[in-house]
Amino acid sequence: MSAAGVTAVAESYQSFNPRAYLQNNYTLPRANFTSEEYAVPWKLRCLADTFATGEIRGQTLIDIGTGPTIYQLLSACDYFEEIVATDYLEVNRAEIRCWLSSKSSVGFDWSPFIKHTCKIEGKGEAWEEKEQKLKKKLKKILPIDVHQPTPLGSSLSEPADALISAFCLEAVSPDRQSFDQALRNVTTLLKPGGHFLMIGALEESFYLAGEAKLSVVPVTELDVKESFDKNGYRIRDFRSYSMPPNLMIGVDDVKGIFFVHAQKLA
Ligand SMILES: C[S@@+](CC[C@H](N)C(=O)[O-])C[C@H]1O[C@@H](n2cnc3c(N)ncnc32)[C@H](O)[C@@H]1O
Repeated sequence: MSAAGVTAVAESYQSFNPRAYLQNNYTLPRANFTSEEYAVPWKLRCLADTFATGEIRGQTLIDIGTGPTIYQLLSACDYFEEIVATDYLEVNRAEIRCWLSSKSSVGFDWSPFIKHTCKIEGKGEAWEEKEQKLKKKLKKILPIDVHQPTPLGSSLSEPADALISAFCLEAVSPDRQSFDQALRNVTTLLKPGGHFLMIGALEESFYLAGEAKLSVVPVTELDVKESFDKNGYRIRDFRSYSMPPNLMIGVDDVKGIFFVHAQKLA
């Protein structure tokens, strides 16, 4: 693994702007809830379908590289007692704390995401109820570095029942080797037999977040599958989404999105 590459990535994240990132990815046109042809509802569908099986549950779920977003935790919150958010940057952890504590609209407005998730889950749950449930279960917001052999240091004593991660490993790894190593590192946080749900960018080389231009290691579907295979997982589901031209808006060069549900071998 290139240590210099990892250091350069860490430096580039120092100017990451959470609000600009949210604006680029979690407003129109990508967060258009009228059809699953749009990127955000496609991701929410993958998560809702997978959690609806009822198979992925337990005491603790860790989200790797939460960033300033909570959409990835909405369908999960029915199935875990405790959800742990993690991020490398304090500005992103602060954004999550802001959402947790605010009763008004100080932070980003996640209500359309919550309403849509309630709708596709079809349980007749009121969106305010889901929001409160997630806020109650989101018990820790921890610093993480996926390039360390113990990414959370000594913060958690028990491995988690499940991991989730969206757009993190490829966005913080300078090359394929370091992506594989990062997956190996975070796998130590998961119990044998535990489930990993990962969403990520296909064939992307950069994205923007305000002044920051972040390099991304371009990965194919095959690269992702190989990496999970090599790290001792069985792939249970793999889905991909091709980015339609009307969602290519200059904030990145992503070609598509993958969703993988993998289970760590016991
Ligand atoms: C593309 S964002 C993804 C955010 C969010 N999960 C989403 O779905 O939009 C990548 C995230 O990885 C975080 N990050 C950067 N370096 C990291 C590292 N070494 N370990 C873990 N996370 C890191 C960034 O702060 C950022 O929040």
